[in-house]
Amino acid sequence: MSIPRLESAALPVDLGADDFGTALVSRLANEFFSGSAAESQVPSVPVSVPHTVAGLPADVPLSSPLGSSGPSNGGRDISLSGGFPHASSASAPPVHPTVVGAEPEPVAKSDEPPTGTHRPGDHASHEFGEPSFYTQGLGSRVSPAPAKAPHHHGLPGKGAESLEPDFYFLKDLPGLRLASLGTQPSPLAGLPEFNIDGVRKDFPALQQHVNGSTLVWLDNAATTHKPQSVIDATSRFYSRDNSNIHRAAHTLAARSTELFEGGREKVRQFLGAADAKEIVFVRGTTEAINLVAQSWGHQNIGQGDEILVSQLEHHANIVPWQLLASQVGASLRVIPINDRGELLLDSLPSLLTDRTKIVSVTHVSNALGTVNPIEEIIAMAHSRGIPVLVDGAQSTPHFPINVTALDADFFVFSGHKVFGPTGIGALYGKSHLLEAMPPWQGGGHMIKDVTFEKTIYNAPPEKFEAGTPDIAGVVGLGAAIDYLIGLGIPALAAYEHSLLEYAEDALRSVHGVRQIGSAVNKASVFGFVVPGIPNDRIAKELDRQGIAVRAGHHCAMPAVRHFGVEGTIRPSLAFYNNRADVDALIHALHGIVRR
Ligand code: ALA
Repeated sequence: MSIPRLESAALPVDLGADDFGTALVSRLANEFFSGSAAESQVPSVPVSVPHTVAGLPADVPLSSPLGSSGPSNGGRDISLSGGFPHASSASAPPVHPTVVGAEPEPVAKSDEPPTGTHRPGDHASHEFGEPSFYTQGLGSRVSPAPAKAPHHHGLPGKGAESLEPDFYFLKDLPGLRLASLGTQPSPLAGLPEFNIDGVRKDFPALQQHVNGSTLVWLDNAATTHKPQSVIDATSRFYSRDNSNIHRAAHTLAARSTELFEGGREKVRQFLGAADAKEIVFVRGTTEAINLVAQSWGHQNIGQGDEILVSQLEHHANIVPWQLLASQVGASLRVIPINDRGELLLDSLPSLLTDRTKIVSVTHVSNALGTVNPIEEIIAMAHSRGIPVLVDGAQSTPHFPINVTALDADFFVFSGHKVFGPTGIGALYGKSHLLEAMPPWQGGGHMIKDVTFEKTIYNAPPEKFEAGTPDIAGVVGLGAAIDYLIGLGIPALAAYEHSLLEYAEDALRSVHGVRQIGSAVNKASVFGFVVPGIPNDRIAKELDRQGIAVRAGHHCAMPAVRHFGVEGTIRPSLAFYNNRADVDALIHALHGIVRR
């Protein structure tokens, strides 16, 4: 069966010259994220995926190597060719220098105003740069906002004019331990009203006009915009507190260190971890999974062992395990999905074998929006003594997380998806796991003592943080967490869930639309295709009207291919979206399908 590839390379025939640059950028971006078949060096990894492709009989032979641009293989029974150039012998365990458990050293103490037209129904104020207070109308506020604090919307009780260092520790915010919503959407009843108009004013990027219309940002699964408080915290770090951490006795080093470790404490609270030492800063979700695969994985996974992922995974939760598997002689097994895009949990008992060494699954699918029953998966894996890594890149922006309640062994997420900066993210790992793991990168800061004969490593988390970290990124991430907690994560989750239901209902009104991903439990994403109209053409038409969505495979080819397509249009919501955003999208789609 040949499935047509509807990617950015297939440019719409009616694109004018003006569109070519945009199309080229889109195509290059997609190729960047997907890799090209000619350049790929695919590890030779056996994969076993029980029946998974919608509309295909289970015995159809599928043989395309991952990373090729050929027809779908649906992720089943994949025979991979080629060799991983740096693969080590499966029988040769990785060599690590002497590790001596040691305590970490003590911590030293577009600027133009919008000119385009507003859409009817877009009732949020769009005065660019107008101060607002996130606290307006939000019942979950933790303390009164200052009378005048135009650049500190997310930082209750802090004045913009203060020249003293402000560290914004969560100890200032009472009673904020969060329960996991798990797969249960939070009911709106009993939650504080969510002041969407006030919230939107906190995000300068949402105030701009694109192609003559107020920006409608529906690409939140790719990245989120930043509240002014995050922008200000990052800017203030560089304009005032900038120093390297931990290494010097001067005042700025102490401030930077305090801010950095304060950020770690905020992440601990955001995730509900027991101890800040369980939080390792990394560049993002991708790096966190690579860290676990190369450190914990090399130590615990060997020849003939199995790594269990799901068909819903982002490539970031597939490729690192393939690399490891090719290095040690292990194989991947895959939890299949049904035609709604839900994991087939019934298959789990037979997929968990004596050879399964880790289960690594996403909490929420970035391509389909499916919220996975992560508690059940963890419980089933733990009943067999198997640890679980949860990819929280797409759950942390949408509902409360508590890794302790989940009993996750590892949990990873990215700062830029939770309204913080790019280039920063975190790995949570249970203390006993992190302590037993070897470092994955060597350098300064991760050591206790170095001689030419041997190195004594620092304790976690420093053991995994070689080199100068993204200090400003941590400061910005901390400000984003302050902002979210100030809004009330359960309240924003409930608001956003009701908006998703509104959006899915509205999408059904568009002629010819085929929804891709209709799980009972969903977050953020309402993807679709319109048979006969290329995804790129729809995305570009939407962009012409100032509406940003992602079109393509969303770095989740096996998930998307289950539906017999090579890509979808993927609008994705954040709590700052409103019904006017959805209405603008649906109105535009009606126009596109009529042509
Ligand atoms: N993970 C990002 C997305 O889903 C890039 O778009």
